Amino acid sequence: MNRRPRRNRKSEVVRNLVEETTLSVNDLIFPLFLIPGEKKKVEVDSMPGIYRFSIDKMLEEIESCMKLGVKSFDVFPAYPEELKDSVASESYNPETFYLKGLREIKKNFPELCLMSDVAMDPYSSDGHDGLVQNGKILNDETLAILSKMALAQADAGVDILGPSDMMDGRVGYLRDELDENGFTETSIMSYTAKYASAFYGPFRDALDSAPKFGDKKTYQMNPANSQEALIEADLDIEEGADFLMVKPALAYLDIIKLLNENYPLPIAAYNVSGEYSMIKASAQKGWLDNDRAMLESLLSIKRSGAKIILTYFAKEFALLSR
Ligand code: PBG
Repeated sequence: MNRRPRRNRKSEVVRNLVEETTLSVNDLIFPLFLIPGEKKKVEVDSMPGIYRFSIDKMLEEIESCMKLGVKSFDVFPAYPEELKDSVASESYNPETFYLKGLREIKKNFPELCLMSDVAMDPYSSDGHDGLVQNGKILNDETLAILSKMALAQADAGVDILGPSDMMDGRVGYLRDELDENGFTETSIMSYTAKYASAFYGPFRDALDSAPKFGDKKTYQMNPANSQEALIEADLDIEEGADFLMVKPALAYLDIIKLLNENYPLPIAAYNVSGEYSMIKASAQKGWLDNDRAMLESLLSIKRSGAKIILTYFAKEFALLSR
């Protein structure tokens, strides 16, 4: 044998020399859940270690993350049922706790990168990402609502908007509206290939945002398809997206690779709630080693071609790599 691949694995130093993929806190965005009120920090049952915070507690959490080097956050609101309606009015009410919270975060930590979510579901009495009429999700009518919420979020100081709704044409529509209103520096991270996935379950618990009827299959993608991801990516590039996102991550590593090989924009992957909870649940039972399973999954997402990972493990990863 003149080829012995094991020679490149013979010691830790040699293994480190030949290591192709590295993970850093700089690659991570930490999703956080905001609730109204004060002094509240409530654990999400289906996501051990992940909390819903009132703004005062969220500011403390952000401060401790920043000290660990986690500097990008994606904030999602959890609204009580009584503030929801069919047209998501609360989403662009300037006095609403979410927009006030975003403002306060940016005021306290101007150097962080703040991302927000653009979709109707947290504010919708139907629990869908778009406007519902006679059981159907209307596309073009939804765009006008998304644009009001996007402008309100940009005005609150958000650095990156994350349209997660999957309506057709929304990236271009939002880009035009932002530019016309002077928000040329506000970026768009498009949820380019967002699949109709079972792995969002725990997130919908965290936000009480599960659809009240049906499912999201007329707007989120079919897990069986990859060609469609190319169409979505073409459109997002044409329409002015700054980042392309694939979601979920682990069951869609081929899609991450496909987009990274075909498009010059940075690819982000959303390591979603169910992917987090699977590891946590089995670690709690002693069936998996939490830290190793976490590191291996994050690494696989990076190796497949994601430059950026949105993950509930962000703070834990930062603590572990100190
Ligand atoms: C909704 C939205 C979802 C997530 C992010 N934005 C859920 C859904 O589409 O129902 C899921 C995130 C996760 O599971 O961690 N616009």
